[in-house]
Amino acid sequence: MLRQAVRSSYIGFFGTPGLPEAAWLSGIGGLALAGLERVGGGPRVPARRATRDYLNGLALYRANMLRRFTRPTERRTSVPVQALAPTHDAFMVDQLQSNAGRWVDDFRFHRFQGGHWSVRSRPAPVARRVRAFVAEIESGAPRPVRNLTAQQARRHGGAFAGQVAVITGAGSGIGRCLAFELAERGARIVAVDVNGPAAERTAALCSLVTPGSTAQRVDVTDAAAMHALAAWVRDEYGVPDMVVNNAGIGVAGPFLEASTEDLERVVDTNLWGVIHGVRAFAPMMVEGGGGGRIVNTASAASYLPSRLYGAYSATKAAVLGLSRSLRGELAGRGCPSRRSARA
Ligand SMILES: NC(=O)c1ccc[n+]([C@@H]2O[C@H](COP(=O)([O-])OP(=O)(O)OC[C@H]3O[C@@H](n4cnc5c(N)ncnc54)[C@H](O)[C@@H]3O)[C@@H](O)[C@H]2O)c1
Repeated sequence: MLRQAVRSSYIGFFGTPGLPEAAWLSGIGGLALAGLERVGGGPRVPARRATRDYLNGLALYRANMLRRFTRPTERRTSVPVQALAPTHDAFMVDQLQSNAGRWVDDFRFHRFQGGHWSVRSRPAPVARRVRAFVAEIESGAPRPVRNLTAQQARRHGGAFAGQVAVITGAGSGIGRCLAFELAERGARIVAVDVNGPAAERTAALCSLVTPGSTAQRVDVTDAAAMHALAAWVRDEYGVPDMVVNNAGIGVAGPFLEASTEDLERVVDTNLWGVIHGVRAFAPMMVEGGGGGRIVNTASAASYLPSRLYGAYSATKAAVLGLSRSLRGELAGRGCPSRRSARA
């Protein structure tokens, strides 16, 4: 409550007679707002608003906010409500965004990477979500479980509550185990694998602990399919918080005896699969402005030479090199409120 009070302190200023009007009319208020937009991940070019707009906004605050603060009553609604909650909102604490569900019968909650000004800096994804909401309501479709409120997600776990993790190679082994661990900690998983039924099973098991996981059958060597996957994830869940490029295959044996097809297959899967994953998801994570994590599964073979793993080592060393370089390139990108954002 204290944190929210600090973030809402401007509302008190709006309530003082005459002062805010003087700020808007003198232009100081407009400059201050443009500054706030810049640091809060707003559009590069601040909006040019007419003084009348500022004064209308002020009147809205006075008519609605102050009166409700002084005479709070419980007002429930049966009208479906969708909350689009940016991950880095400078003015709203997390609880305020998600707790509205307590007073709404049909509450749909979507978290997306972005800041308070995302409606103007990234209107397309916001508009897409609004369109999808209208379509869901008009079609009478039941509320999808992946629209978990942050509150519900928190009940299921801790550190990754409410987050979305895309994991390739999630149908088996390390990918599946990672999916389980993240789901256990509250994340919803997009389980991706070339083996569709295996991915389905991972998603179904993840949903038992944190509802809202889904499976996608995608071959990571297919660039177009990976980009289509990224677009689907953005539409369904918003920009993911974590992408794990984990799908990989092992090829063992003397390098000189490997066929060209074998070599192409291992490079396509282990290296190109990671490249496609990064190129499909990283731009939206940077543009989203909320940071995020990209994890590429390499191997001890990235460092250790071996007589039997020449081709495999080559791909894994390349994945390590790429990941280290990307870490430098992306650190701090697109995350205005967290300069130390890691990639
Ligand atoms: N198991 C190990 O000891 C070990 C050690 C170091 C690194 N790794 C790496 O960890 C990752 C996972 O290995 P694992 O042991 O869990 O393997 P695994 O074979 O158990 O799982 C890999 C999954 O990736 C999927 N996959 C393969 N090709 C794909 C493609 N083109 N598109 C989409 N999915 C595809 C498979 O269907 C499978 O479900 C790999 O990158 C591997 O190189 C494994």
